[in-house]
Amino acid sequence: MTQDEASLEARLEEQEAFDPPESFVEQANVTDPGIYEEFEENWPDCWERAADLLSWEESYDTVLDDSNEPFYEWFTGGELNASYNCLDRHVADGASDRTAIKWEGEPGETRTYTYGDLLAEVEAFAATLRDLGVEEDDVVTLYMPMIPELPIAMLACARIGAPHSVVFAGFSADALATRMNSADSEYLVTCDGYYRRGDALDHLSKANEGLEGVDHEVSDVVVVDRLGDELEHSLSENQRDYDELVAENEGASVEPVARDAEDMLFLMYTSGTTGKPKGVKHTTGGYLAYAAWTSHSVLDLKPEDTYWCAADIGWITGHSYIVYGPLALGTSTVMYEGTPDYPDKDRLWEIVEREEVDVFYTAPTAIRAFMKWGEKYPEQHDLSSLRLLGTVGEPINPRAWKWYYKHIGGEECPIVDTWWQTETGGMMITTLPGINTMKPGTAGPPLPGIGAQVVDAEGAEVGAGQAGYVTVNKPWPGMLRTLYNNDERFISEYWEEYSDEGADEWVYFPEDGAKIDDDGYITILGRVDDVINVSGHRLGTMEIESAVVGVEGIAEAAVVGGDHEVKGEAVYVYAIPEDGYDGDADLEERAVQGILDSIGPIAKPEEVIFTPELPKTRSGKIMRRLLEDIASGNELGNTSTLRNPDVVDDIADQVDSS
Ligand code: PRX
Repeated sequence: MTQDEASLEARLEEQEAFDPPESFVEQANVTDPGIYEEFEENWPDCWERAADLLSWEESYDTVLDDSNEPFYEWFTGGELNASYNCLDRHVADGASDRTAIKWEGEPGETRTYTYGDLLAEVEAFAATLRDLGVEEDDVVTLYMPMIPELPIAMLACARIGAPHSVVFAGFSADALATRMNSADSEYLVTCDGYYRRGDALDHLSKANEGLEGVDHEVSDVVVVDRLGDELEHSLSENQRDYDELVAENEGASVEPVARDAEDMLFLMYTSGTTGKPKGVKHTTGGYLAYAAWTSHSVLDLKPEDTYWCAADIGWITGHSYIVYGPLALGTSTVMYEGTPDYPDKDRLWEIVEREEVDVFYTAPTAIRAFMKWGEKYPEQHDLSSLRLLGTVGEPINPRAWKWYYKHIGGEECPIVDTWWQTETGGMMITTLPGINTMKPGTAGPPLPGIGAQVVDAEGAEVGAGQAGYVTVNKPWPGMLRTLYNNDERFISEYWEEYSDEGADEWVYFPEDGAKIDDDGYITILGRVDDVINVSGHRLGTMEIESAVVGVEGIAEAAVVGGDHEVKGEAVYVYAIPEDGYDGDADLEERAVQGILDSIGPIAKPEEVIFTPELPKTRSGKIMRRLLEDIASGNELGNTSTLRNPDVVDDIADQVDSS
C-alpha cells in the first residue's frame, strides 16, 4: 500500500457519515427532501404516488380502507393485472426489444429475454396452466431454482389470477410438502436440476419425494428440463415437460385477468416463533405499487438501467426486487444461477463488468465473504458502470459497509442499507440515495410515509442513543394482509404486542430490536424472537428443534444462533440423548440429517453439542441467552441462579469457539 492509499484507508475508517456524490444526486429519481413532509401531510393519499407508477384497468375509489383494522385494504375498487404491468404495457410503449431478463447459468451460458420474448413465453405458459386446469385463485407452487422459467411461471400465474407460492429450491422435500399442504396447492412447477459449484444437482427426486408427503391430490406436474443430458431423469405419468407444453401453446394470446387490488398475488412462507412456517399473503395492487415505488425511489431504477439483485427469487427479496419491482418499471434485470465463487471468486464482478450493471443489491453476508476473499477479485474488473449499491437481510457492520463502498463502489456510489421483511413486501427503513447522508451500519430514517419508530417494552418512544424495539404505527400499501387461512395468528404474531387494548391504534411489531440516533436514523440490532438470521436467511429455531427431537435417540434439544464471521449467525444445536443412546458421531450425523430432511442445507448446524442436561432457570426455562453466549464464545455472566449451573462448563468445553 502506498502512503496515499494508507492515509485514504485511515480517513475512511474514521469517517462516520457520507454524502451521496453530486453525480448521483443530479440524476436521481427522488431528490427533493420535502418528500418526507409531503408524505406526512398528505397521508394516506401520498400513496397515490406509488399507485401512479402502475397501469390500472379500473381506477381505485379509496386509497386506504381502514374500516376493519388491522385488516387494512389499499386502493380498493381498483383493478389491475401484475403481468400486464410488468410486460404488456412496456411492449405497447415500444420497449418490445429492450432486455427484460438477462440470465446467466453457472456454467456460463446466457439467455436474454426481451420484453417481447418474455411476454410471448408468459402467455404460452399461462395458456398451458389453463390447459392443466388452473383456475383463478388456485395456488400454484413453484419449486424452482434461479432459472428464467421461474419468473416466467410467476408472471404466467399472475396473468391468469392464480396466486403463486414459490418454495426456495434449497428447501427439503418435507418443506415442500408442508407448504403445499398448508396452501392446499394442487399444482406444482419444478425442474430436473440445476448447477451448484460445477455439479449438476438432482432437484426432481427431491420434488418427487416431497409430493409423496402431500395430503391431497396433485394435478399434472410441470418439469423444466434445465440440465438436458447432464442428469438422466424420467418423467412419471402425470409429469409434463415444460418445453413441450410451451411449444404446443406457442403464439397463444392470453388476456391478462383484471384482478381486484386486494386479490392475492402470491403467498410466501416464512419462519416465525412456532415450529410452523407462516403463509404471508401479498396482494396485487398494494404490493405491486409498493415494490415499484421503492424500486423507483430507493433503488433509483430507470428503464434504461441494467440492474442486478444477487438474491434468490425463492425469498421475498427476489420477488420484490428481481421480478416485480424492476419489471414493473421496465428495467433490465439480471439473474444468475450459481454461487459467487465459481469458477472463481470474481464471478460476480465479471458479470458486473460484462453486463455494465448500474445498480447492484446484495446481502451483508456476501459482502463479508468478498472481504474475506480480498480486494484483488473486484480489482480485476472495471466496475465503473455501477451507480448505486444496496444491502438487505441483516445488519451490516461499518467495516463491511466501508469495504463495499470503497472496493465495489469506488467511493462514487451511495449505499442503501434497506431494512424490511417478508411481511412488509418492500423496503421500510433506509436512506433515500439522492437525498440523505449515509451512516455506515445504520439503515437510516423510515421511508416517507412509513411510521417506523423505536419504542420501549411499553410502546413509548425511546430517546436518542437508547435501544428498544422497532414498531410501525401506520399501515403501508406493501404490508401483508393476513397469514393464509389464519387471521388469528396474523393478529397474535404482529399486532397484539403493541396495540392498545380494544385497539384504537394498531401497531405492527416486526420483532426486531433497534436503536435510534439524534437524526432519527435507526440501527437495527437483530431479531428479538426465536428467529435466527443465517447468511441473510431467516430460520425459526423452533422449526430446527422440532426436526432434531424428531430424530430417534434424542430426548430434548435447544437450537440457538451463535455469531459467525461470514454467515452473521450460525446454527448451534444442544441436544440431550435419550436413555440408552450415546451422544456419538452416529447420533450427531442423524441429528444433522434430520435437519437437512426437514428444512434443507441452509439450516445445517455449525455444531451439535450433546449434553446430559440443558441449562435451565429454577422455573425450568431453557437459558437460551446463555447457550447463545457459549456458541458465540462470549464471556459468560453469572450462572449461579441456574437450577443446574454445573452443566455450563461442561457444555462450554465442548464448543469450538469458546
Ligand atoms: O431482522 C431483520 C433482518 O431480516 C429480517 C427479515 O427477514 P426476511 O423476512 O427473510 O426478509 C429478508 C429480506 C427483506 C428482519 O426482521 N433484516 C432485513 N434487512 C435488514 C435486516 N436487519 C438489519 N438490517 C437490514 N437492512
